[in-house]
Amino acid sequence: MHSLDAFAAGKLAALDEAALRRRLVPTARGPGAAAERAGRRLVSFSCNDYLGLSHHPRVVAAAQAAAARYGAGSGGSRLVTGNHPLLDALEERLAHHKGKAAALVFGSGYMANLGITPALAGRGDLVLLDELSHACMWAGARLSGARTLSFRHNDVADLARLLEAERPAHGRCLVLTERVFSMDGDRAPMGDILEVARRHDAWTLVDDAHGLGVAEDGPRAPLEMGTLSKALGSYGGYLCASRPVIDLLTSRARSFVYTTGLPPASAAAALEALTILEAEPERRARPLALARRFTARLGLPEAESAVVPVLVGGAEAALALSRALEAEGFLVVAIRPPTVPPGTARLRVAFSAAHDEAQVDALAERVAALSGR
Ligand SMILES: Cc1ncc(COP(=O)(O)O)c(C=O)c1O
Repeated sequence: MHSLDAFAAGKLAALDEAALRRRLVPTARGPGAAAERAGRRLVSFSCNDYLGLSHHPRVVAAAQAAAARYGAGSGGSRLVTGNHPLLDALEERLAHHKGKAAALVFGSGYMANLGITPALAGRGDLVLLDELSHACMWAGARLSGARTLSFRHNDVADLARLLEAERPAHGRCLVLTERVFSMDGDRAPMGDILEVARRHDAWTLVDDAHGLGVAEDGPRAPLEMGTLSKALGSYGGYLCASRPVIDLLTSRARSFVYTTGLPPASAAAALEALTILEAEPERRARPLALARRFTARLGLPEAESAVVPVLVGGAEAALALSRALEAEGFLVVAIRPPTVPPGTARLRVAFSAAHDEAQVDALAERVAALSGR
């Protein structure tokens, strides 16, 4: 065997052994939280389309019209090919939504985080991030070359301790956290984090991927990033900030400068979705209300967002529970290390405005029965 294939086969065997191998499963997504696998219809609780906007007729029509008028792709970097007016319009709307002076749209949320931190911090600087921060926040921090340390999850006293100990020896300092944590569904104490960061002249970057449109109230950070791919049902990432910061990132964020701009259809879909999101508060309230209905039925701590973890522990046990639910018509994917810490494999249940109460009650009943809760 070629040494490259032998290397890959050895790694795969170790992943299989630990029940940590990932596989792609053909799945067609439909409207109304429907999914189809191997000819079976399932109700999906594994999708971040929190407001059900990815299939909204107006959002789909906006994407179709933009593709028909402007083409399927954007043709190059926005700095080279020219800036698309739809992207200008989207940035203006995002900035307004977040109460900021300006915004910059990236190719994805992952790319936004890969570009933001290295443009603002480097060698000799300090990045402090919540230990449960998303992989792309860690990637951006490490790529920056700044000294990178984590504070205990949502522990402002631990953050303050690190700032007191480490801040004086470093130049610039960034504090990174998530408004809603992607795998736990809990919310960061934003007011306290912003206050302690300000006291130490540290700049806070909050990732609002799972907050936007669902659980985004509370104070704003100087750097508000997020994604167009979840509540907005489209694709792409963004940063909202002051005008000088956005202008600097336009020149210096490498994952913005050296990559192709967002396709016009994605920008048009996000714009239309933002219009619907802002006009329909009852749609925005639904995912959290359904999540709370579910946590109440199962006696879990009250949901703080559209994401509810059902902790299982072992990776194999989480996979088995997920498989059992799928056999009963529910798609609820198991989340395993390294996405979550070892020993905390879980079902991650994501609620959407597209679910109805009967679906939520049926899932709660099956989870209770299958997990002996
Ligand atoms: C917290 C968080 N940040 C960033 C991302 C990346 O966003 P995108 O999917 O747009 O790359 C995700 C998930 O996808 C996420 O959960």
